[in-house]
Amino acid sequence: MKIFCGGSNKPLAETIAASLGMQLSALELFVFPDGEKRVRVEENVVDEDCIVIQSTTTPVDQNYMELFFIIDALKRSGARKITAVVPYFGYQRQDHVFRDGEVVSLEVMIGFLESLKVDRVVTVDLHSIKIPELFHIPVTHLSALPVFADAMKRELKEDAVLVSPDMGGLRGISKLSELLGNLAWVSIVKKRNLETGEIKMTGIEGDTSKLKKRAIILDDMISSGKTIVQAAAFLKKMGVEECHVFATHAIFSKEAPYLLQHSIVDRVFVTDSVLVPEEKKFPKLTILSVADIIAKEL
Ligand code: R5P
Repeated sequence: MKIFCGGSNKPLAETIAASLGMQLSALELFVFPDGEKRVRVEENVVDEDCIVIQSTTTPVDQNYMELFFIIDALKRSGARKITAVVPYFGYQRQDHVFRDGEVVSLEVMIGFLESLKVDRVVTVDLHSIKIPELFHIPVTHLSALPVFADAMKRELKEDAVLVSPDMGGLRGISKLSELLGNLAWVSIVKKRNLETGEIKMTGIEGDTSKLKKRAIILDDMISSGKTIVQAAAFLKKMGVEECHVFATHAIFSKEAPYLLQHSIVDRVFVTDSVLVPEEKKFPKLTILSVADIIAKEL
């Protein structure tokens, strides 16, 4: 087996390779002055099982193209089987038509990957459990919940209630509750204006008497940070004293790190599914690794 990676998250790829007692194989990634890229495989991959690791996060389209080019180069060089490890799968929130006339961007990306004859996809915490059904190739859908549960058991479980910031997170929150010995959980009712993206929190689904001193908010991703900041403010109004956040994918667009650091949120735990550059790190942030759970599947 050989492991390659694109440029979006080399530290994670190195940790996955190290967890398997391996090193990353060599690729040449050349960028022409006009921005076009050329990929060249620098090792013999004839009849090899090849893994390509690439998170398709910002810049989303460039990272997707790089992934496609690496896969094509490996196929042309004689790779036997290709597994695309896409820890964060870009465009996953556009998984169906929300308003008439819209593209289903996720299906477009899946179509590209499949047309390149990828054999298998491994990914982490997709926005919806139905997404794997959109593929025509095997998909291994991993979860960061065991990593989160371990961190919570170490320091946060006492006097806590789990909170989903929207009804879409109910499945995840009930699984996490099981991992923590049936810890109490509730969900905020969130409404998003599909045209403006503006969100409103209108109530709590579940037993509000369970809201105790400490809330642990679970989400699949933090993009602008607004969902988390508003959820924490909403919970504080309901008497919660501490808010700790666990979210798998640290998309951290725009001013999210600033908003989170200056919010009433106490701590923010994310994973390394997306590379957080130094300038986006902030004191309240802790990054946990999903490398081992991915490595076990390869
Ligand atoms: C929404 O359904 C997702 O689960 C996240 O809550 C959302 O994408 C987070 O986005 P933002 O940080 O921009 O509020």
